[in-house]
Amino acid sequence: MATRNTLFRLGIFLSLFLLNAVQSQSAVASIDLGSECLKVAVVNLKPGQAPISIAINEMSKRKTPSLVAFHSNSRLIGEESLGLLARYPTKVYSHLPILLSKPFNYTQKFLRSLYLSYDITPDETRDVAVYKTEEEGGEFSKFTAEEMVAMILKYAMGLAENHARSSVKDVVITVPPYMGVAERRGLLTAADLAGINVLALVNEHSGAALQYGIDKDFSNGTRHVMFYDMGASSTYAALVYFSAYNAKEFGKTTSVNQFQVKDVRWDAELGGQNMELRLVEYFADEFNKQLGSGVDIRNNAKAMAKLKKQVKRTKEILSANKMAPISVESLYDDRDFRSTISREKFEELCEDLWEKALVPVKEVLKHSGLKAEELYAVELIGGATRVPKLQAKLLELLRRKELDKHLDSDEAIVLGASLHAANLSDGIKLNRKLGMIDGSTYGFVMELDGPNLSKDENPRQLIVPRLKKLPSKMFRSFIHNKDFEVSLAYESEDFMPPGASSPTFAQYAVSGLTDASEKYSSRNLSSPIKANLHFSLSRSGVFSLDRADAVVEITEWVEVPRKNLTVDNSTSASANSTEAGLDNASEESSDKLEGNDSTTNTSVSSATDSATVDLGTEKKLKKRTFRLPLKISEKTAGPGMPLPKESFAEAKRKLEALDKKDAERRRTAELKNNLEEYIYSTKEKLESEEFEKISSDQERQSFNEKLNEVQEWLYTDGEDASANEFLERLNTLKAIGDPIFFRYNELTARPVASEHARRYLGEVQQIIHGWEKDKSWLPRERIDEVMREAEKVKNWLNEKEAEQKKISGFNTPAFKSEEVYAKVFDLQSKVASVNRIPKPKPKVEKPVKTETESNGDKANDTDTSSGETTSQKDQNVGESDNSATEKIDDESNFHDEL
Ligand SMILES: *[C@@H]1O[C@H](CO)[C@@H](O)[C@H](O)[C@H]1NC(C)=O
Ligand SMILES: *[C@@H]1O[C@H](CO)[C@@H](O)[C@H](O)[C@H]1NC(C)=O
Ligand SMILES: *[C@@H]1O[C@H](CO)[C@@H](O)[C@H](O)[C@H]1NC(C)=O
Ligand SMILES: *[C@@H]1O[C@H](CO)[C@@H](O)[C@H](O)[C@H]1NC(C)=O
Ligand SMILES: *[C@@H]1O[C@H](CO)[C@@H](O)[C@H](O)[C@H]1NC(C)=O
Ligand SMILES: *[C@@H]1O[C@H](CO)[C@@H](O)[C@H](O)[C@H]1NC(C)=O
Ligand SMILES: *[C@@H]1O[C@H](CO)[C@@H](O)[C@H](O)[C@H]1NC(C)=O
Ligand SMILES: *[C@@H]1O[C@H](CO)[C@@H](O)[C@H](O)[C@H]1NC(C)=O
Ligand SMILES: *[C@@H]1O[C@H](CO)[C@@H](O)[C@H](O)[C@H]1NC(C)=O
Repeated sequence: MATRNTLFRLGIFLSLFLLNAVQSQSAVASIDLGSECLKVAVVNLKPGQAPISIAINEMSKRKTPSLVAFHSNSRLIGEESLGLLARYPTKVYSHLPILLSKPFNYTQKFLRSLYLSYDITPDETRDVAVYKTEEEGGEFSKFTAEEMVAMILKYAMGLAENHARSSVKDVVITVPPYMGVAERRGLLTAADLAGINVLALVNEHSGAALQYGIDKDFSNGTRHVMFYDMGASSTYAALVYFSAYNAKEFGKTTSVNQFQVKDVRWDAELGGQNMELRLVEYFADEFNKQLGSGVDIRNNAKAMAKLKKQVKRTKEILSANKMAPISVESLYDDRDFRSTISREKFEELCEDLWEKALVPVKEVLKHSGLKAEELYAVELIGGATRVPKLQAKLLELLRRKELDKHLDSDEAIVLGASLHAANLSDGIKLNRKLGMIDGSTYGFVMELDGPNLSKDENPRQLIVPRLKKLPSKMFRSFIHNKDFEVSLAYESEDFMPPGASSPTFAQYAVSGLTDASEKYSSRNLSSPIKANLHFSLSRSGVFSLDRADAVVEITEWVEVPRKNLTVDNSTSASANSTEAGLDNASEESSDKLEGNDSTTNTSVSSATDSATVDLGTEKKLKKRTFRLPLKISEKTAGPGMPLPKESFAEAKRKLEALDKKDAERRRTAELKNNLEEYIYSTKEKLESEEFEKISSDQERQSFNEKLNEVQEWLYTDGEDASANEFLERLNTLKAIGDPIFFRYNELTARPVASEHARRYLGEVQQIIHGWEKDKSWLPRERIDEVMREAEKVKNWLNEKEAEQKKISGFNTPAFKSEEVYAKVFDLQSKVASVNRIPKPKPKVEKPVKTETESNGDKANDTDTSSGETTSQKDQNVGESDNSATEKIDDESNFHDEL
């Protein structure tokens, strides 16, 4: 119900305000990669298309199951694999996006809890699951979650491109707020494997907030809005503050709307799926009792897959009805299962879930200090929020009469994310602006480790507090002179992504510092050697160590040229063009280096180059700062470990080979289909009466035999033949069939062509009469030429028709309809060229050609094909044909102006 008006309004609205193309053909996309379904939105600037729209899949659906299946040596994605789910549940892979970069034991436990019995083995180096998709030894027998997600993403991009009818390279992908750093990196790797350029990952709640705010104006009032999203496998509540501020643009003060994510809290393991599982358990018990044989259908993957599929429907029905049926054909051992359940019973089964579902809301309120009444709106999104009991519980908690359903619960996020994509892409400018301030959903610390770390340095420091603005750069400096290690970790062990077995998600070894300090140890150090660490928190929420350098400050007496005062003070000013200037940009001003005399490891002499007058030299005590880049090598182990280069290349190769195989499979199916169709339609035609006129019994019979032969082959040896074998056979058949079909087509086409020719020959006679009567200036020889030509065509046609009458319809025809048309066309051109000869002007003396030349620049927009237009049009008003008249108008205007 929530969707009722939204789409319509959205469509109209977007077309009004949105988007200026900077480059005309750019298209960007957003992908909402859910655990069960994916949605794709496209921002497209091609005229005649909605600027933002949902890309539908091959079944014309607006959402596609995020599934990958491997079956009988093929890979299937999306809808195609859904069809296999009930029959081959162990070969249809789901929930892949949320299993990215998860430890093996977590994956195992997670899959078991959903009765998904895939064949998985641990990857020894990374401790992630490897999915065994086919028999051991098969070419494509093992895949990681990254590889499978890459397949899904590529498929999604295919939908986008199909929809945009152009290539789409840039994309924004939505992620649930609880997604950790390792998992986000895993997703980016998957996109990389798929060859997709990710502009950013965006938190789902930001997508929703964007979609909510883009058509509103907050200059008259700010508001706090809560977004409550319960999807298939997780739930979150986000508090977003919408406001407006004044900004100067081109000297004008305008009001700019913006939103800021104030908080987001979640339960990463509670969603609609959990309710379904309660139903599954309930019905499984009931069925087991019906069986009464001690069998537990929970141990049967196929039965559980069927039951789960039906339970989804039952849950949906319960959202609108007090009772709902369930019916599963041949659930187990050929026995059907039928039952019903009341909404009351369902609510009782999920009793503890309702309270759990409120926890994120309560936490957001508690930490924000806001009262429920202060929320301007509570917007519901996500399929599971349709459950009436959940809504009732929310209403009760928030003491409201109504919840807000202004957003499309399925599509708000992906549509909002597409606005973000448009905003980030170079080629597109949004006419309407909405500032977005989202923050890191986790807090991050760095931990230092190494020999002889100073006692004063706290080895564990908070670098990114929770909800710190995305993106940001951070900087830390500490006294140290030995190589060391840095780990990045979640701030709290109680607040980590699901499944994480340790708070640490990245480790780096930083080297070069020991060497540097040895090198400078003999110099006059004015302060202890320091290490600078540069961190970034990316737009996608990935926290990483980007750069490290050693800072060595020495004070030494140096010979410098005597300088003028003015020169001297400009010298120090020029020193700020170094890295210290960059560091100023970092937000942690307290960490900034002291002293403004820092230089890079170039010598001071460069600073004195500007002295123009040689006044001799003097000794000066000079403080010099050297910055030496340190080497960072990532040492992250476990599920967050980045794919080693070789593995990445290998994965890419595997995926490309699969894509090729898929393309080949599609081509084979198409060619097989073409061949089949050719055989059927040809056999049918051969039986028709018409064909008796153009082929002998014997010819048809032998062709028919050939067709039967290939048909026979199709269903025996040809069953699994290659694309080329189908093509070869089709070509062989066509070699026999084409002349027959040609004769068949000519049977009707030839008389039509002859008729056409004769009609035109008649017309030509009249045209010539007209010429002789009204156009006395036409040269006689040109008219005669046309007459001769017409005569020739007529004779040719008579001759050919007579010939054709004599030969059998079974033979190659004496002439083709297409030859007739060609001859008529030639004749038409000749007539037209004579027709174009203009009436000469009475006083024309000079040769036509020179006149054209002399007036060439004015005459160039006339009928260029004739080249014989006269230049004295101004004297000939009304006497010439249309094109000349137009030009006369032009010229008289021209004269008026003069
Ligand atoms: C997985 O194993 C790690 C230790 O190897 C353990 O800390 C963690 O609790 C386990 N997780 C699950 C879900 O069993
Ligand atoms: C703001 O409020 C004033 C007065 O209530 C109203 O006239 C104006 O149209 C409002 N502006 C917007 C942008 O809503
Ligand atoms: C769009 O881009 C502007 C400028 O970079 C930024 O300030 C704003 O927050 C962005 N908004 C969205 C929705 O991405
Ligand atoms: C570093 O530590 C080692 C052993 O802990 C010690 O022998 C050495 O003197 C220390 N060096 C410095 C410079 O503190
Ligand atoms: C070392 O630096 C100090 C100031 O930090 C200075 O007074 C001293 O002269 C310098 N020594 C040498 C040898 O340069
Ligand atoms: C040096 O300084 C003097 C006085 O301050 C000034 O007149 C002269 O032009 C300066 N020379 C240069 C090369 O800057
Ligand atoms: C250089 O010195 C002159 C005169 O003392 C002063 O006016 C000027 O601001 C100084 N420039 C800098 C960059 O310090
Ligand atoms: C020094 O820095 C200021 C402000 O950062 C900048 O405006 C100025 O151009 C810089 N000077 C040089 C010589 O780079
Ligand atoms: C034809 O006209 C266009 C503009 O009307 C002019 O730029 C061009 O030079 C002309 N060409 C000739 C051959 O006169």
